[in-house]
Amino acid sequence: MNKIRGVILAGGFGSRLGLLTRITNKHLLPVYDKPMIFYPLQKLLDAGIKDILIVSGPEYSGHFLRLLGSGREFGVRFTYEIQDEAGGIAQALGLAEGFADGNNVAVILGDNIFEDNLSNEINSFTAGAKLFLKEVADANRFGVAQISGNKIIGIEEKPKKPKSSYAVTGLYLYDFRVFDIIKSLKPSSRGELEITDVNNHYIKDGKMSYSIVKGFWSDAGTYDSLLRASTLVKSSRDKKKE
Ligand code: DAU
Repeated sequence: MNKIRGVILAGGFGSRLGLLTRITNKHLLPVYDKPMIFYPLQKLLDAGIKDILIVSGPEYSGHFLRLLGSGREFGVRFTYEIQDEAGGIAQALGLAEGFADGNNVAVILGDNIFEDNLSNEINSFTAGAKLFLKEVADANRFGVAQISGNKIIGIEEKPKKPKSSYAVTGLYLYDFRVFDIIKSLKPSSRGELEITDVNNHYIKDGKMSYSIVKGFWSDAGTYDSLLRASTLVKSSRDKKKE
């Protein structure tokens, strides 16, 4: 029985998608043939996780309930939590403390689309923290990991001059200590509690590991990345049919 609990973060304003998010939440928009949130959800289902928390903003929280329901259809149990304002990814994760109830957590951003099945990595995780990195051409859009030997030695959030081309993707594995770390954070210059600060904490403590993502990975929070995500999903599906 898998004790790790799943958390999907689907708060925030989706303001970069303009009119598309005027009447619903970004994470419910289509990526090829499914609502966006189905893709991160599938990564947690593949890993056999049975307890999944969905954090969303207050505006369209009812839409998530209508789409996903209790979880019975998926053989899991969903819990819902509201993040009152978009105070950052780490703030949204902080709302999961009671739900996690002392267990490790697999946290996935609601706009991240992974091709790989990551269930082995999720299930072999025991303590500390683990990140999933992907080499990209536009690292300045992401958290960027600096690697020395086989260790991450630091992460910079959206650096103007990235020190590597390894983006930190939106799947994070943490032990329960993450909730104490979040309580110690101060808001960044953009007024958010940053997940990058959480990760740098684990790095300083020597408790961070990582894997490289082999298949495609994309976020879907801008017009271009949303289109790209749909195209990648479709071509991967077509490849499997051949
Ligand atoms: O996609 C991976 C990147 O995600 C990482 O490389 C970055 O280190 C990380 O900061 C994040 O960067 P973004 O700027 O793309 O994050 P964004 O504000 O677009 O939020 C991504 C998801 O996180 C969003 O789809 C829902 C969730 N979120 C975000 C915020 C700001 C929340 O649940 N609550 C929030 O307050």
